[in-house]
Amino acid sequence: MKQRILTGDRPTGPLHLGHYAGSLRQRVELQREYETFILIADVQALTDNFENPGKVSVNVLEVALDYLSVGIDPKVATVMVQSAVPEIAELTVFYLNLVTLGRLEQNPTVKTEIREKGFGKSVPVGFLSYPVSQAADITAFGGTLVPVGEDQLPMIEQTRDIVRKFNGLYGATLVEPEALLSKYPRLPGTDGKEKMSKSLGNVINLSDSADEVKRKVMKMYTDPSRIHANDPGHVEGNPVFTYLDAFDPYVRDVAELKIRYEEGKVGDVEVKEHLAEVLNNFLTPIRKRRAEYAKKPKAVMKILKDGTARGRGVAAQTVETVKKAMKIRYWD
Ligand code: TRP
Repeated sequence: MKQRILTGDRPTGPLHLGHYAGSLRQRVELQREYETFILIADVQALTDNFENPGKVSVNVLEVALDYLSVGIDPKVATVMVQSAVPEIAELTVFYLNLVTLGRLEQNPTVKTEIREKGFGKSVPVGFLSYPVSQAADITAFGGTLVPVGEDQLPMIEQTRDIVRKFNGLYGATLVEPEALLSKYPRLPGTDGKEKMSKSLGNVINLSDSADEVKRKVMKMYTDPSRIHANDPGHVEGNPVFTYLDAFDPYVRDVAELKIRYEEGKVGDVEVKEHLAEVLNNFLTPIRKRRAEYAKKPKAVMKILKDGTARGRGVAAQTVETVKKAMKIRYWD
C-alpha cells in the first residue's frame, strides 16, 4: 500500500528542539519519499486556549516559519491550517459516537495534561475529546504513517480504535495509521525534567538567537552529584549529553567526551561550550532561512492557503466516502 504521512503541531508557541528531535527531522527526511501532509492544528490548540485565540492565530505564522526554516519544502509537502478544513470537524462529529467517555478519560497524555492544567472535573469537553478530532485529522487525509514523539502514541491508538469501530459498523472504509517513532531520544528540558515543553519553560526554540542558545546551554542542568570539574561525572540522564547525542554529527567525538566526563577529565563548562557550538552550528542555516521567509509573510500565507486548498480536496473526498458508508449521503 502506498504510504502517506500525516502529522501536525499545535500553534501555541514557536517550535523547539524537542519538536525537531521528536518528529520534525523525520518529516524533513521523508517528505520526498512519501506524500506528506502537515497540519497546523489551530482548532486543537484552541481546546485549551479558547479564551485567548490571538495567541493561537499569531503562532500559525510562527509555526509555518519554523517548518519552512527547517527545510519542509512546500513544493513536495502540503502544509495546511486545520480550521480552514471544516471537513475535519464533520468527521469529528461522526467519530464522537464511536468513543466512550471512559475511554477518553483513560488517555494517558490527556490525563497528564488535565492534571498539569488543574482542570479536574471542569475539563472542557473539547479538550477531553481532542484525541477524536486528531483521529479526524489523520483519517481525513488518508494518513497511514504518523511521525510523532512518544507522548502522541495514545492518539494513534485512539485513531486505530475509531477506524476499527467505524469499519466494523459501516464496512471497510478507513485505513488504520501507524506511528513512526523518532530514532532519536526524547529530549529532556534544559532543567533536566523529563520533557522539553514550552509550558515548563525549559525549551530551546528553533528561532532562538545564538546568544540565547548559549545562555540557556550555560545554565543547563547537568549532573547534580558532580561538585568539582575533576569529580567523575554521570552521562546517563545528563541532558547535555542527550542533546549531543541528538545534534552532534561527530558521534565518535561525543563518545570520547563521555569517557573523559566519566573519568573527571573535563569540566561542565567545557562540555556546555561545546554543546552551544554544536547547537548553533545546527541552527545557523535554519535561522538564515527563517529570516528570508520572515521578510515575506504574505508569501508564507500563500503557501498555507494553497496547501490548505489542496488538502481540502482530499478531506472532502474522505467525507463523501464516510457519508456513503454511513448511508447518509442522500443525493448526487
Ligand atoms: N497533538 C499533537 C501535539 O500536541 C498535534 C497534532 C494535531 C497532531 N493533529 C495531529 C499530530 C495529527 C499528529 C497527527 O503535538
